[in-house]
Amino acid sequence: MAPSSRAHQPPGPPPPDPSPPEDADAAARAHLDLTRSLSYGDYLHLDTLLAAHRPVTGAHDEHLFIAVHHVSELWLSLIVRELQAAMPLLAAGVTDAPLKGLTRVVRAQEQLTGAWEVLKTMTPADYLQFRSAFGQASGFQSAQYRMVELLLGNRDPVLLRPHAHRPDLYAPLQAALHAPSLYDLALRLLAARGITLPGEVLERDFTARPEEHPAVLDAWLAVYRDPEHHWDLYELAEKLLDVEDNFRRWRFNHLTTVERTIGFKRGSGGTSGAGYLRRALDVVLFPELWQVRTSL
Ligand code: HEM
Repeated sequence: MAPSSRAHQPPGPPPPDPSPPEDADAAARAHLDLTRSLSYGDYLHLDTLLAAHRPVTGAHDEHLFIAVHHVSELWLSLIVRELQAAMPLLAAGVTDAPLKGLTRVVRAQEQLTGAWEVLKTMTPADYLQFRSAFGQASGFQSAQYRMVELLLGNRDPVLLRPHAHRPDLYAPLQAALHAPSLYDLALRLLAARGITLPGEVLERDFTARPEEHPAVLDAWLAVYRDPEHHWDLYELAEKLLDVEDNFRRWRFNHLTTVERTIGFKRGSGGTSGAGYLRRALDVVLFPELWQVRTSL
């Protein structure tokens, strides 16, 4: 008797194509004459985008190096945009749309961090073939990266100086330096919901990185001890932690990529290189959100 199990049946012919007959020539039915209408490349300005990709040497890996930087800057631009959309809403007491926006930030950060996996395929020898092409240029001078840091609350006026010669970049960075950060706005929201926070926290000097403050820890403790009552604030706290968690991962992967590519040489931007980046790992953006775990 033949076995009844499908697993024992000999492989038969492939199943019939489920596409309805009208899809048989689907490609031929697409819009193929674009002489008079907006095409994909037109809409996305792909000529402009790809024209920005200009390796200086003939080194094979310079293409990769530029592509990963370009892709990273595009994600940074999206992150800046999402943060700048979320912050005024948060200031107005709205949490649902900012939570959605921050989820997008978290996903974009994952893409940024994933880019290291591609770049890590470049060896030190590959890199040295084009290193001379970019002189003193460095990601240290990325205005969008600085903007993300400023919006999240990592504030150090020195880091704005590379942009002083570009008023179009410098002015928005200066404005962000003097305005409340995402974390400051979250704390103001806690206060607006009746959780006690002193004026010295709410009206702090925004140009400096915030110091850990016992009253802020108490405020987050109130949220974490009664999440049902403060559900959106609790969600916001965890989302902020996701953002910082991902930020740390990006920094760590950058450092590791730098060490495996240039070792402990000085950076093209003039810092000590890996040593500088290692110290940046100690930066804590939302200190009380990490502390609250210990205190619960
Ligand atoms: C092999 C590739 C890379 C190497 C060797 C490298 C090296 C470095 C070094 C040594 C620094 C310290 C500043 C200095 O230049 O003196 C730095 C900073 C920085 N790099 Fe890279 N980098 C690489 C790829 C990237 C990529 C793909 C990005 C993406 C945007 C990036 C973004 C940054 C940023 C934002 C900083 C400033 C970090 C801070 O101030 O905390 N780097 N990089």
